[in-house]
Amino acid sequence: QVSAQQGPWRGAGQSAGSPAYNYMFQMPLPIGPVAEPELTVNVNGRTVQYYSVTIEPFTQQVYPNLGPAHLTGYNGTAPGPTFKIPRGTETIIRYLNRGELSAAVHLHGSYTHSVWDGWASDEMQVGQWKDYYYPNSETARPIWYHDHADGHTATDAYYGQAGVYIITDSAEDALGLPSGDYDVALALSDKRYQSNGDLASPNGNPINFFGDVIHVNDQPWPYLAVEPRKYRLRFFDMSLSRPYDLYFADPSGNWIPFQVIGSDSGLFGAPVSTNNLLIAMGERYEVVVDFSSYAGKNITLGNNLQQGQIQEYDNTNKVMRFVVGNRVSDSSNNGAVPSVLNANIEWPTPRTTVDHTFNFQMGGDSVWTINGIDFSNVNNRILAKPQQGSTQLWELRHTGGPAVHPVHVHLVNMQIISRTGGSRGVLPYEAAGLKDVVLLEPGEVVRVLAFFGPENGVYMFHCHNLIHEDNTMMDAFNVTYLQALGYNQTTDFADP
Ligand code: C2O
Ligand code: CU
Ligand code: CU
Repeated sequence: QVSAQQGPWRGAGQSAGSPAYNYMFQMPLPIGPVAEPELTVNVNGRTVQYYSVTIEPFTQQVYPNLGPAHLTGYNGTAPGPTFKIPRGTETIIRYLNRGELSAAVHLHGSYTHSVWDGWASDEMQVGQWKDYYYPNSETARPIWYHDHADGHTATDAYYGQAGVYIITDSAEDALGLPSGDYDVALALSDKRYQSNGDLASPNGNPINFFGDVIHVNDQPWPYLAVEPRKYRLRFFDMSLSRPYDLYFADPSGNWIPFQVIGSDSGLFGAPVSTNNLLIAMGERYEVVVDFSSYAGKNITLGNNLQQGQIQEYDNTNKVMRFVVGNRVSDSSNNGAVPSVLNANIEWPTPRTTVDHTFNFQMGGDSVWTINGIDFSNVNNRILAKPQQGSTQLWELRHTGGPAVHPVHVHLVNMQIISRTGGSRGVLPYEAAGLKDVVLLEPGEVVRVLAFFGPENGVYMFHCHNLIHEDNTMMDAFNVTYLQALGYNQTTDFADP
């Protein structure tokens, strides 16, 4: 069994009440379907792909010995179908809502016009559909899509409305990183179950939701049969409230060093070596791990338990297992990770003047706000109006509440400049690339620099603890272009 080399442990753990799961590391990691376009049109050098996705209820047999779990997800799978889109191929995805609640779909990490960004109140009611258009002009990166409906984003994501969307490009392909079966997306989430095997609701506690059953690609504690060679693993934290501190442990419990090669906005300039990787809700990290010295052994992906803000339960220190075989069937793309991965990161122009300070805090009655303003405050929720094409320095402050706040800003990529006020600075892999989520722990002040370039319009920014988001820790900013024409931004453009 795994023993973490280092603390801090939060004690023995307890159960949140899910039935005991007796199949740990016995069920294979699900590799979900890849979305297939219904139509591909080539016109004037452009390629446009049409997809259709139905939000619909389905059941999943999670506990083999109990009744099924009821979910509602994209095309009846959780996670939803995986999109793999070459950069510049445009997509139009028709989402048809045959679920039980209204829905808004957000492509997290994309340069999407605000009309298709999944604005929380721009919802498809049950029975309605909407076509979302994505230019996919971003460089290669691991992004994801999930529901964003006003007030029930956490519920919808928890019951299955979340999926992986990978943009590829030729610069990345040329690097010879592990690909095909050796490139695996791992979506992390935590859930709770009732005694009948169905899901327990994530709602009821406005501070956090922590499950006691850790899932990867919606399977509790799975295993993946791997070959003794290098793998590219793409981690997505799709949990509502749980960050993970991931490590790979050999059968003796020793941690295996690995390389972090990219994050939210794609590949780093150079790989970062580490023994563990902190990933918070909404964040993505890509790593290369080398199983070549572990033929015939089991490698466990563990979660080094956090102290203080995160409620831990029995077995939440384990995530999944890699069962390493004895033979490599394909040794291509198995060389050393290139020391230069990406020479084209678009770092924002340096700036030292703080343009905006945002306090992430808890008000009375467990209402979470940014600068005291919650999302239902329609006339005041636009908290910044950066001009399109400008760079701004934002100071994000954790000013209260017993929980962590991973702050997500739509549309832009952020350079994490500094983290003060707490016990840690900026982690090397946070600084190595541009991010769209940054974790704020209690007392911390984080400065981020962002170029407001890709689009203009009104976009949300919010805490990606989805329990906080639904409890209104969300506001908006308006990337202004029309301001020059004299419109009143607040009233004319409060909603896209
Ligand atoms: Cu991943 Cu506004 O969300
Ligand atoms: Cu987003
Ligand atoms: Cu929060």
